[in-house]
Amino acid sequence: MDLGKIRACFPVFRNEPNLAYLDSAAMALKPDCVINAVNDYYTKEGVNVHRGVYRLSYEATDKYEQARQTIANFINAKFEETVFTRGASASLNLVASSYGLNNLKPGDEVITTELEHHSSNMPWFNVCQKTGATLKYVPLNEEGRITVEAFKSVLTDKTKVVAITYVSNVMGYITPIKEIIKLAHEKGAIVSLDGAQAVPHMKVDVKDLDCDFLSFSGHKLCGPTGIGVLYGKLDLLEKMPPIEFGGDMADTVTTKSQTYKASPYKFEAGTPIIAGAIGLARACQFIESIGFDNIIAQENKLRKLAISELSKIDGVIIYNKTCETGIVSFNLEGVHPHDAASVFDNNDVCIRAGHHCAQLITSWLKTIGTVRASFYFYNTEEDVYKFIKAVKDAKEFFGSF
Ligand code: ALA
Repeated sequence: MDLGKIRACFPVFRNEPNLAYLDSAAMALKPDCVINAVNDYYTKEGVNVHRGVYRLSYEATDKYEQARQTIANFINAKFEETVFTRGASASLNLVASSYGLNNLKPGDEVITTELEHHSSNMPWFNVCQKTGATLKYVPLNEEGRITVEAFKSVLTDKTKVVAITYVSNVMGYITPIKEIIKLAHEKGAIVSLDGAQAVPHMKVDVKDLDCDFLSFSGHKLCGPTGIGVLYGKLDLLEKMPPIEFGGDMADTVTTKSQTYKASPYKFEAGTPIIAGAIGLARACQFIESIGFDNIIAQENKLRKLAISELSKIDGVIIYNKTCETGIVSFNLEGVHPHDAASVFDNNDVCIRAGHHCAQLITSWLKTIGTVRASFYFYNTEEDVYKFIKAVKDAKEFFGSF
């Protein structure tokens, strides 16, 4: 992998040559090819899809639906199983609102974990409050991981849904998800998988995992903002009611009866996210051209270097030393994460600080928040050393931690 060539694809690095961008878990940077694909659509077509009875609209429709096929192929899904949403949060909420509210009743159980992002946990908290189902949590092990054994300890014949993260956005741990899905299915439960931090970083094959739903965002995958994907098994999507009604999703509408199109269209009311879908498809092709083996190798190299250098500095508390992805969560003893963040910013190092929309795990860690550095394939060892220098500067600024 030629890192120089790869970095040259990202205009932000041309505009900000000194930047160490270590916040890809919040949003990945955008390569020229994605920006150009979006620009191309607006320049060459720029019209609505599925509606216009003219050449440009047909061309836009072709581009949009080809984008869906490209993204479906990326996760080994079928075209009609690939629903466009405005992001992972919207996808996770769609599952809870459509499947959850219509299938759960008092006595049923939903399993979730304290590693969840709010977007994975909160929709099910709401569903359980409304339906009378019970929300149960997998006890995390001493490192804060989800284990198969712990999952078994909360799985019962009453389990109907498992709402679980594939990769934690705070700890970066990979959930042993295949085994968990198998066990859940043996009890007849469905699994809604939050893939926001997984799909950009590893090959995710929905058929191989056998997950029932998978949610992810485009913007963490070098794609545009405002586009996300919900994969669902077709037999489930077919039975689920839409949660938004209106343009493009309707089939026949009279004053007496109203019917909807089949999946994926019944979940895509209104003018779709055309430019976003086209940009995301181009991002998937770009990621494939880099290759997940290269992505994983680079993230591993940088994480190991960061953890080894951080471990040499007194007063740094690292929360996820055994993490296997590109996320490092830590604190400087006695320093509020937001105060630390300002020193990183002064060094042109972009990190995220706070609870990362995952307050359950920051509470579990007994802290108000963490400083999080997250690496992607375009980061360099030099970025890590800039980051370490910023930690040392913070130490000097705040006195000994
Ligand atoms: N969920 C994103 C993050 O973890 C925004 O930073």
